[in-house]
Amino acid sequence: NSQSNQFCEAGIGYGEVGCGISSSTKLLIKGGTVVNAHHQEVADVYVEDGIIVAVKPDLKVSDDVKVIDATGKFVMPGGIDPHTHLAMEFMGTETIDDFFSGQAAALAGGTTMHIDFVIPVNDSLIAGLETYEEKAKKSCMDYGFHMAITKFDDIVSRDMEIIVKEKGINSFKFFLAYKGSLMVNDELLLEGLKRCKSLGALAMVHAENGDAVFEGQKRMIQLGIFGPEGHALSRPPVLEGEATARAIRLAGFVNTPLYVVHVMSIDAMEEIAKARKSGQRVVGEPVVSGLVLDDSGLWDSDFTTASKYVMSPPIRASGHDKALQGALSNGVLQLVGTDHCVFNSTQKAFGIDDFRKIPNGVNGIEERMHLVWDTMVESGQISITDYVRVTSTECARIFNIYPRKGAIIAGSDADIIILNPNSSFEINARSHHSRTDTNVYEGRRGKGKVEVTIARGRVVWENNELKVVPGSGKYIEMPPFNYLFSGIDKADASYLSSLNAPVKRSKSTT
Ligand code: URP
Ligand code: ZN
Ligand code: ZN
Ligand code: ZN
Repeated sequence: NSQSNQFCEAGIGYGEVGCGISSSTKLLIKGGTVVNAHHQEVADVYVEDGIIVAVKPDLKVSDDVKVIDATGKFVMPGGIDPHTHLAMEFMGTETIDDFFSGQAAALAGGTTMHIDFVIPVNDSLIAGLETYEEKAKKSCMDYGFHMAITKFDDIVSRDMEIIVKEKGINSFKFFLAYKGSLMVNDELLLEGLKRCKSLGALAMVHAENGDAVFEGQKRMIQLGIFGPEGHALSRPPVLEGEATARAIRLAGFVNTPLYVVHVMSIDAMEEIAKARKSGQRVVGEPVVSGLVLDDSGLWDSDFTTASKYVMSPPIRASGHDKALQGALSNGVLQLVGTDHCVFNSTQKAFGIDDFRKIPNGVNGIEERMHLVWDTMVESGQISITDYVRVTSTECARIFNIYPRKGAIIAGSDADIIILNPNSSFEINARSHHSRTDTNVYEGRRGKGKVEVTIARGRVVWENNELKVVPGSGKYIEMPPFNYLFSGIDKADASYLSSLNAPVKRSKSTT
């Protein structure tokens, strides 16, 4: 098949046909250090038909088993990216990585599953889901969905139940920004939080004050600031802190767990820290761009360079990055996403005369595992077991698919990476696997390289070559009532009984 050979030369091979990869479904990974979030040990991992069968030292297997030597390397659960936007229609265009190219890039970087955001079509959840089911047919790795809520009425409320009980989605995202398109007001957020709670679905928020952002944008235009730096200046950290605090308080008022996506500032992080300290169930997700970049690129005189950094909330001034790293290491923030949402330089140029028209989003799905390793593990800020927790296990727990995903134990899906801590990586747009023509991590090098990626027992990345098959990825259904809901009903009961306490009753009747 010449088509597949052609893709092989380009570095993306289509499966067995052109690439000479073995169709063997039995695999032994020998001699590596197997790392889970709770434990690490030197052991072999035996895989059959996409499932991990055994994890033990010195396993003996028959001759027909493909053996991969992992001596001196780390054998870890494949990464799970909780936050991506593949083939998303947004700001008048569509993200350029679709469910094939974005996933191929992910696999080349050691991520074996992602959770993407379904955007409703004309506010219809079901129509939105059908659209995304179609987009995802070309998947080459496993994926799940979150669902955005852009309106609230009886139909949306009913559809939320269908989405949770029949469609395998257990989280809903509310955008407090993007006034005039995706943004919801507090009334809708409250209705949504109540509905999420009753369904055992996790509420997620994009936390920026959209009305104030709109005001900030007008201010920049009045000052004559039209360039990409105007993006950051128009939506400062205080607007992220305010919306984060508001969402946290409203979730606390409803008493339902909250997940704050793309935490980009100290301001937002400190609100999460405060809430968690008080015992509230709030999850904070930093993204790679917020952890390792600062806003200096937005001031670059070259528009193509500056505009590639435009995302929301904005990449912040130096200092926020280090503080977010600290919060990831001390547990205030729990898992790392990417918000992979890429537009090429032609699409970014829609905003050449006005930063408000630059499509928002940066890359990261391929770079996340390497950059978190280099920034957090190589620097000594987190342990290797914590690395597995923040890149994979905690995501699987929160979205209720653990230990099928996020663990190397017998019975789990064989989504596995082999990372060589003595090898190194280098990032650039020439060699990355995303379709976009720029990379916000251009030129970065670091220690630790994902040398092998195994997705459901299939070796899809080895010797710097991808062997991926469109249509081989599976939809992962995620059941409601994750661990964050445990005990919520008890807290409600004690709240109710406190209202009925005799001392209060007598007060109100006097
Ligand atoms: O700039 C961003 N983050 N684009 C994607 C949409 C979102 O807000 O997550
Ligand atoms: Zn090949
Ligand atoms: Zn967002
Ligand atoms: Zn996003």
